[in-house]
Amino acid sequence: MFSLRTAVLLLASLRVAFAAQSVAFVPPSTSPTKPSPNYVGQSNFTLPRPIIQHGIVFDQMIVVNLENTDFSVAASSPVFQQLARQGITYTNSHGLAHPSEPNYMGQGGASTFGLFSDDFEDIPANVSSVVDLLEEKHISWASYQENMPCNGYNGKTFASFNYLTGSGTDNFYARKHNQLAMYNSTKLNPRRAGLMRNYNDFANDLNAAALPQYIFMTPNIVNDAHDTDINFASAYLEYFLIPLLDNPKFNGPRTLILLTFDEDETGPENNLIFTLALGNAVPKKLHGTTDNTYLTHYTVLTTPQVNWGLNCLGRQDTNKTMANVLGFVAEATGYKNLVVKNPPTTNDTVAIPGPFSPIASFVTPWEGPDIHAKCANPKGHVYVNNNPPVNPDLYNNGQCPQVAFSSNPLLEWNTEFDAQIIAEQRKFHASSFDFEPFERIW
Ligand SMILES: *[C@@H]1O[C@H](CO)[C@@H](O)[C@H](O)[C@H]1NC(C)=O
Ligand SMILES: *[C@@H]1O[C@H](CO)[C@@H](O)[C@H](O)[C@H]1NC(C)=O
Ligand SMILES: *[C@@H]1O[C@H](CO)[C@@H](O)[C@H](O)[C@H]1NC(C)=O
Ligand SMILES: *[C@@H]1O[C@H](CO)[C@@H](O)[C@H](O)[C@H]1NC(C)=O
Ligand SMILES: *[C@@H]1O[C@H](CO)[C@@H](O)[C@H](O)[C@H]1NC(C)=O
Repeated sequence: MFSLRTAVLLLASLRVAFAAQSVAFVPPSTSPTKPSPNYVGQSNFTLPRPIIQHGIVFDQMIVVNLENTDFSVAASSPVFQQLARQGITYTNSHGLAHPSEPNYMGQGGASTFGLFSDDFEDIPANVSSVVDLLEEKHISWASYQENMPCNGYNGKTFASFNYLTGSGTDNFYARKHNQLAMYNSTKLNPRRAGLMRNYNDFANDLNAAALPQYIFMTPNIVNDAHDTDINFASAYLEYFLIPLLDNPKFNGPRTLILLTFDEDETGPENNLIFTLALGNAVPKKLHGTTDNTYLTHYTVLTTPQVNWGLNCLGRQDTNKTMANVLGFVAEATGYKNLVVKNPPTTNDTVAIPGPFSPIASFVTPWEGPDIHAKCANPKGHVYVNNNPPVNPDLYNNGQCPQVAFSSNPLLEWNTEFDAQIIAEQRKFHASSFDFEPFERIW
């Protein structure tokens, strides 16, 4: 007879086998545009419609990350093949490291800071992120994290009803996949914490035609292929992304959607990932083409920098080797991409020095950015803010901060913000030629 322990172990291994092989995709909501209790956090307000700051090539950039898949595996999926016909496939795009977290951290703030783990980490408030660069130019932004329980949540994971199996719970949300959650400068600023939103907010913001101009989207840990596989993620894209491509409130006239993966799964091809540019900002004549430029996750920083004339962070976003811009955007903005003949190793686990390095001799202090570095935008300079306002009370691991459900702090703040830029723009306008520098999008 089996001992209880053996029975438990057997059950556990059966469960793993089941999880790996046969969990089928279940839509978390009735439609991508409808809120759902499966998303957990309620939403009872939306963002105001953004005042659009025009870019050279696009007015909106939406970065969607999936997980842990080799290029060849994604390329073999009929859904990815279908999507590839509507956009540009990047055949030389690479994750920065393993495991997940340094890849997301790099997208948010231009460095992995030596991290090679999924540990709960914080980055000091005087280290800037893409948010600082966008806000400086009045470009609206938000991060939408599926199954995050409330805005600005700082817990490591969140367990919610397992809508796939219909019973129990699963840790559908993971902070390690939240690009900005590690940055004290974002999560401890109440206004910014309110812009780190869940998918109920996404549905409401979308329906209100109020999606901001720069967006990170992270599907939950099953939809992004992390705990599942490419077939599951493909079914998710058929349910979620493909219909949204036909929705003008998502894919506006000048929208760029970058669909990518955080890292590869098996490693031999130096962390080669499938990256696809979609959306109406991609010229039709380039649909179905490929581009072999060497890219990394820092592309999600330098591409908006040249498009909107942003400043830069003076970290790996100013490292020419690591920071190539999407080819069609480089061409239109005059940015010269580097032909990278000997790409760095991005698939081992200890190579980069930084404050989070697991190797004692690689640990560095938190250094300021290189203020003399050259930005991708030739008119840009390195952004430095040593004293950003933060509220340490928002550092409440696992609790929902007050920003989420108060009456409507965001709307109030944004209204003021709108008024402030309108005033600035009027001043500019009065002294300028016949040119309307901003407009509401819909
Ligand atoms: C981030 O902010 C929290 C709350 O103030 C603080 O305890 C923590 O030390 C900060 N982390 C870093 C790396 O500065
Ligand atoms: C990393 O990629 C290189 C280049 O493709 C390959 O030679 C090496 O074996 C890979 N390393 C690992 C740990 O997979
Ligand atoms: C730029 O990136 C390359 C490749 O990863 C690396 O070898 C080099 O040290 C980086 N330079 C700086 C200044 O960080
Ligand atoms: C942040 O402050 C520390 C000292 O508190 C300083 O050493 C470091 O250079 C600053 N970093 C940035 C990015 O300004
Ligand atoms: C918003 O929703 C929360 C959670 O359901 C609720 O506590 C709060 O009263 C609502 N606020 C408004 C203004 O409707």
